[in-house]
Amino acid sequence: MIALDIKTFIQGLPKAELHVHVEGTLEPEMMFALAARNRIPLDFDSVEALRQAYEFTNLQSFLDIYYAGARVLRKAKDFDDLAWAYLEKAHAQNVRHVEIFFDPQTHTTRGISFGTVMTGLCRALARARETLGLSAHLIMCFLRHLSPGDALQTLLQAQPYRKHITAVGLDSSEAGYPPKLFTDVFARAREGGFLTVAHAGEEGPPDYIRQALALLKVARTDHGVRCLEDEALVRDLRRKQVPLTVCPLSNVKLKVFESLARHNVKALIDSDLCVTINSDDPAYFGGYINENFLAICKAFGLTHQDLQRLSQNAFRAAFIGKDLRQHYLNELDRYARRYI
Ligand code: HPA
Ligand code: ZN
Repeated sequence: MIALDIKTFIQGLPKAELHVHVEGTLEPEMMFALAARNRIPLDFDSVEALRQAYEFTNLQSFLDIYYAGARVLRKAKDFDDLAWAYLEKAHAQNVRHVEIFFDPQTHTTRGISFGTVMTGLCRALARARETLGLSAHLIMCFLRHLSPGDALQTLLQAQPYRKHITAVGLDSSEAGYPPKLFTDVFARAREGGFLTVAHAGEEGPPDYIRQALALLKVARTDHGVRCLEDEALVRDLRRKQVPLTVCPLSNVKLKVFESLARHNVKALIDSDLCVTINSDDPAYFGGYINENFLAICKAFGLTHQDLQRLSQNAFRAAFIGKDLRQHYLNELDRYARRYI
């Protein structure tokens, strides 16, 4: 056994990231570079001024800035550059497997074709598989503030790209947009062979998590942190070991919790839920996956074993085949045996 300080241990820990929005990886520097390349005016004079605007009061105050930022993405190369920058960063943080959300409607509503988005993203993912050895999948999210009819149109547009998209998800403004609105679209998606996930219980009530499970038949719940308000739901999530893709820094930035110390991730872990740690929108929330791991370690004094468990949960929850899963779990096991 070789003792490693916790930060070094986190850096080397083989990890899977299951909750990251590609549009949320758009760093201010790249936003300015793409704005110049595509001749798109920005509302801010400098990278510093833009960064300073990243003070959010809730989910909606973030989404307004996040959708405005995405306007600089116009060509396939822009999507390629964006995804590639994230994939390189993930690789540098020892992420072995990643499932990346993208929001086609954020782009198609601006006149950017579904094909342009897919061409760029698929190029970056293919390069990451070949040159970085990462396994990487795409999850297409429907914007819940738009209509179920709009989501259905998006599902139809995805048909030619079916083999490049592993699952469908649901994101954007949560309160007032319950999962049940999307029951039919998700049924169609499942018939088409897509797996399903949904953001639920970030700002919305525990009942939205119940709806996502019962009606959308999700394999994982994104965020899900408000489940602790409903004991029967917690029992159900524990019994079924439904993975929760928890994003600690995101939750603090969007004031779901007042501070990291007040975050319920330790309580979720102690409730024997299948917790995974993720970055959500790292360019906006001040950290990628390792910074999220480190932040909760510092706040709650998590042990090396706790971290191993969190990473194990993510590989168990990943949408990958049995052999690849075992390969990653073995690698994680070897790492833990060496350093714990
Ligand atoms: N919640 C809902 N929609 C989102 C988020 C989030 O945290 N990030 C990007 N789109
Ligand atoms: Zn999210």
